[in-house]
Amino acid sequence: MHAAVPGFYPQHVAIIMDGNGRWAQQRGRPRTFGHLEGAKSVRRAVEHARRSGVRFLTLYAFSSDNWSRPQDEVHALMKLFRRKLVSETPRLLENGVRLSVVGRRDRLSPELRRAIDAAERETADCGGMTLRLAVDYSSRDTLVRAATILPRAEEMTRDDFARAIAMVNHCPGGVPDVDLLVRTGGEQRLSDFLLWECAYAELVFSRRMWPDFAEADFDQAVDEFRSRDRRFGGLSKAI
Ligand code: IPE
Ligand code: IPE
Ligand code: MG
Repeated sequence: MHAAVPGFYPQHVAIIMDGNGRWAQQRGRPRTFGHLEGAKSVRRAVEHARRSGVRFLTLYAFSSDNWSRPQDEVHALMKLFRRKLVSETPRLLENGVRLSVVGRRDRLSPELRRAIDAAERETADCGGMTLRLAVDYSSRDTLVRAATILPRAEEMTRDDFARAIAMVNHCPGGVPDVDLLVRTGGEQRLSDFLLWECAYAELVFSRRMWPDFAEADFDQAVDEFRSRDRRFGGLSKAI
């Protein structure tokens, strides 16, 4: 296990959990089976990140563009979210993990909204790690909505804008930029995820399908992150 060294170990890790459907299809199973198995990987990743000292973990669970999928897949995913929110909350509490759901809520069912409210309320005092689950999330929608809640655009700073984004994302306390972004499933794109927050994120792409993504893969991504020279536009400290 890695020691939690601030500034060295990533404080904010974001994961695009991709490849559930292909994982299932490769096994001759329906795509929804892949989502069920993917949920097990979520638990593994959350608990491993928590043990490793990550402060914020943002997981992409359902994009606003995912509504365009067949109705039965969307329905199965929504049911899975609700079921897991209810069944996993005690484990989140045990592990000191605070849950925050990021994204639009107005298109979610009242039952799912209630489950989100309850899980967020019950874990509100957990200080170990914040798990941000992105559901009906679109980074571009978030940016547009953040722009509309800022009163005087001409005096706006980057920090004001970042705060507005955090507000839109139901994280009024603010969220640090993403240090490490991992995408599983072999694709190398952002698919409208955290475009602002990833301005200087280190990107790591894994060929592993999400249901197979294990602790060792997480550690490998972190090792890759730690080997990178983050310059933020300046010059390398190694020189
Ligand atoms: C990611 O896996 C989960 C969601 C988008 C909900 P996919 O369902 O995109 O799986 P692939 O990419 O089709 O294999
Ligand atoms: C991104 O994956 C969304 C999630 C993982 C939740 P997609 O599978 O929807 O992305 P594209 O369509 O390959 O870009
Ligand atoms: Mg996909």
